[in-house]
Amino acid sequence: MQWWGVSWANLLAIIVAACSGEKDDATALWRGPHLGFPVVHYPADALPSEERVALGRKLFFDPGLSIDSTVSCGTCHKPELAFTDGLEKSIGHAGQTTARNAPTLFNVAWHPYFFKEGGNPRLESQMLGPLENPEEMATNVPMLIDRINAHSEYRKLFKKAYGVDTVDFYHLSRAIATYERTLVSGFSRWDAWYYLSEKSLTEDELSGWRLFTGKAGCISCHNGPDLTDYSLQNIGLHEKYEDVGLFRRTRDSADIGKMKTPTLRNLIYTAPYMHDGSVLTLESVVEHYNSGGKNHPARSPLIRPLMLTDEEKSQLVAILKAFSDTVMPVRK
Ligand code: HEC
Ligand code: HEC
Repeated sequence: MQWWGVSWANLLAIIVAACSGEKDDATALWRGPHLGFPVVHYPADALPSEERVALGRKLFFDPGLSIDSTVSCGTCHKPELAFTDGLEKSIGHAGQTTARNAPTLFNVAWHPYFFKEGGNPRLESQMLGPLENPEEMATNVPMLIDRINAHSEYRKLFKKAYGVDTVDFYHLSRAIATYERTLVSGFSRWDAWYYLSEKSLTEDELSGWRLFTGKAGCISCHNGPDLTDYSLQNIGLHEKYEDVGLFRRTRDSADIGKMKTPTLRNLIYTAPYMHDGSVLTLESVVEHYNSGGKNHPARSPLIRPLMLTDEEKSQLVAILKAFSDTVMPVRK
């Protein structure tokens, strides 16, 4: 019985809502609790409701948000690929290649900041990046707002969701961000074992977990419910970084190649890996860490040769795969 599918989480949230006598069922549903995670914090100026989440979802998948109506957020963040796109680097407006690999959007509700160099504090402002980037959606916000205001259905939906007669960026960004905060994934066989003491992991996966938390030291950065501490780290991926990461913000050479530590959930759906999609398989990821990485002055001291046997490497790959949700919580 696959009780750890998304319906389980929904069920749990509904039970909690019922027990706490909360009237707004939708709000309780979006907040959680979700197994292992703290309750989702919705900013006071961006509270969820059924209408708001549905509007945000519609906008997220609407190519009309890009200059020539060809690219939506969902073009690069596809639900069936855990909101990634399967490409080394995403392709945006007019077939242009963007600078980076598209990260998953599951569990963004808990991120302290966005982008690989952690440069943006809020989902509402993050989206200005893709909307206005000439390689992504290539639009400009005033033009986009005029376009949406000319659309009577959208005006109706904004009125219903936010009570406003005219659409503005404040409410548009809140609708999309509110939808993003409902994208939760945390129901893997690892969760069933770790949080509920189910016998859901194989012997190899259990050995992999012991390596992950012990000899291989992955847990130093990949910890907590989303298997990341969100810290910015140089893992010695390259000797010379084309994409300088945190250095873009600080101009401090000690920050070259430092990228936000990603979640390790849903890796079976999110290849290729790393900020530039340069690592194609989980086997190659493990080879990278086992080698201790490339020599780079900013490389974290935690990245060092691991001397894993072939058996240990495959056990580590096995646990990485087991962090994936068994039932992909696709919510279109
Ligand atoms: C052309 C492809 C493309 C489109 C279109 C796109 N994104 Fe992205 N998205 C990316 C890439 C690539 C990154 C990584 C950028 C970075 O970290 O600098 C990213 C990063 C993000 C992040 C940050 C995640 C993190 O872990 O920090 C969020 C949130 C996000 N996108 C939401 C959106 C929303 C909302 C839209 C629509 C308004 C959108 N994206 C449109 C490719 C795209
Ligand atoms: C010093 C902190 C740190 C340690 C220790 C660490 N990682 Fe990472 N990990 C990162 C960072 C940062 C990235 C992203 C690097 C990039 O994008 O260039 C990453 C990326 C990954 C990815 C790619 C995820 C994706 O979606 O692209 C996998 C898989 C991974 N690590 C697994 C592991 C394993 C397995 C170990 C232990 C052998 C480990 N990590 C140890 C910080 C760390």
